[in-house]
Amino acid sequence: MKRFIDSFLLSLHLTTTSSAFLIHHHVRRNQHPHLKASQRRLRLHLPSSSVTLHDRFRKDSVPTFSVRKPKVLHPVENEDLKLLLLENISQEAVKALRLQGFQVDHSTKAMSEDELVQKIGSYHAIGIRSKTKITERVIKAASKLLVVGCFCIGTNQVDLLTAANSGIPVFNSPFSNSRSVAELVISEIIALSRQYFQRAFEMRQGIWNKQSKSCWEIRGKTLGIVGYGHIGSQLSVLAEAFGMRVLFYDVINIMPLGSARQVESLSALLAESDFVTLHVPELPETMNMISTEQLAEMKKGAYLINNARGKVVDIPALINALQSGHLAGAAVDVYPAEPGSNGAPFDDQLNSWSSTLRTLPNVILRHILEAQRMIGEEVSSALIRYLNYGSTIGAVNFPEVDLRAITLEQPDHIRICYVHNNIPGVLRQVNEVLSPYNVEKQYSDSRGDIAYLMADIADVSPADINKLRELISKTSANILTRLLV
Ligand SMILES: NC(=O)c1ccc[n+]([C@@H]2O[C@H](COP(=O)([O-])OP(=O)(O)OC[C@H]3O[C@@H](n4cnc5c(N)ncnc54)[C@H](O)[C@@H]3O)[C@@H](O)[C@H]2O)c1
Repeated sequence: MKRFIDSFLLSLHLTTTSSAFLIHHHVRRNQHPHLKASQRRLRLHLPSSSVTLHDRFRKDSVPTFSVRKPKVLHPVENEDLKLLLLENISQEAVKALRLQGFQVDHSTKAMSEDELVQKIGSYHAIGIRSKTKITERVIKAASKLLVVGCFCIGTNQVDLLTAANSGIPVFNSPFSNSRSVAELVISEIIALSRQYFQRAFEMRQGIWNKQSKSCWEIRGKTLGIVGYGHIGSQLSVLAEAFGMRVLFYDVINIMPLGSARQVESLSALLAESDFVTLHVPELPETMNMISTEQLAEMKKGAYLINNARGKVVDIPALINALQSGHLAGAAVDVYPAEPGSNGAPFDDQLNSWSSTLRTLPNVILRHILEAQRMIGEEVSSALIRYLNYGSTIGAVNFPEVDLRAITLEQPDHIRICYVHNNIPGVLRQVNEVLSPYNVEKQYSDSRGDIAYLMADIADVSPADINKLRELISKTSANILTRLLV
């Protein structure tokens, strides 16, 4: 028992990561087999009150044993990978990708389909946000394209099926800005209920209007959340901390957080809420899900907030509800049509009602999200993991496959990344090609018609690398074969 506790303490100290497991293993097998666990702890400078957790994990604080370092892999061909980042993707992402030695072209603007068709042929990866459309025509012109990164949550701007069929995984950022949107909604709820954009606007025009009529605390008010996913549920927690009562409506049954309550219909939510906020994806069934009928079901003097997608709200109907005084205010962050770049006009040519919306009191238009840096980090790491290591974990249109790292002590190992059609007999063909070698590890998975195999092969001579790639590329189901060394 004591042995068990000692070794448990030791492994606890060394964290649960796989590299820590390697350290543990290494120490146990090679370093001090004759020492008791308690003695080993002393020798390894294990828990001591003067040493902080961070100190203990620094390299120098564990001088008596070595960690197996992962080897940085590189594609056999495509040594100079070229990446195109559009729509002002964060500089953190640009820096991270350049640090990998990739050549990165960065633009603040989106590109039209025609522009993309002209330019994309020379790029191995593209990063976009929501305005650039990666259509079938673009993908057909993208002869070198290996991967697409959507530096946002939504991916409906990409033809995901054509991308998958062409062996191109698409990554997005499902989590990074959830919190940012939730915080933004809280700020908008407070701003609307205090009318502070309106008051600030008047003060700037030299108008003194000290009034508290129709200004409320949000404590005790009811917030109705439509769509209780990543954002809706985060928001629920924040709103309750402000003393709000939270209701939500979702097409699936979800366990409520805190004291929130799921209601059975959108109508029930609209009838009870002082603030209604939308957090649903853009789908055929969510188009104009808030229109004249739904606005009429809302309480008189209620507020509507839309940070989801522009087409979810029928804006002319919202304008009517605001003008008639049925709604007391609204915050609109997303629009059916949005300008292509910063500084471009937001006018009636873009959306016929833009100028009317702009004149309405107590309406908050547009915001800036703080989340771009985190999105940049999340998506650029997914691109790096795919380009350098072949990992598709987190891809939205592709089988998710990964292998543990090849280490520095394995210089003759290579990684095969094989995207292929999901048909019987393929693995037999590949295994025939690999049969003269020692396959250290391999993993394969499929999604619909596409399958993806990763395999690490030991003791491959430089002369064999091209031969292997050629043989695997020639298999009947091949879509894309990449070798990483
Ligand atoms: N303004 C911004 O900058 C910004 C940022 C992030 C996300 N968004 C938008 O917000 C949306 C929500 O993001 P998320 O991360 O919470 O998504 P999510 O997928 O985690 O949650 C969406 C929820 O909506 C529910 N839903 C789907 N159809 C519905 C319907 N007809 N009625 C009611 N509920 C329905 C789903 O069941 C799910 O629980 C995204 O789709 C995106 O369009 C906007």
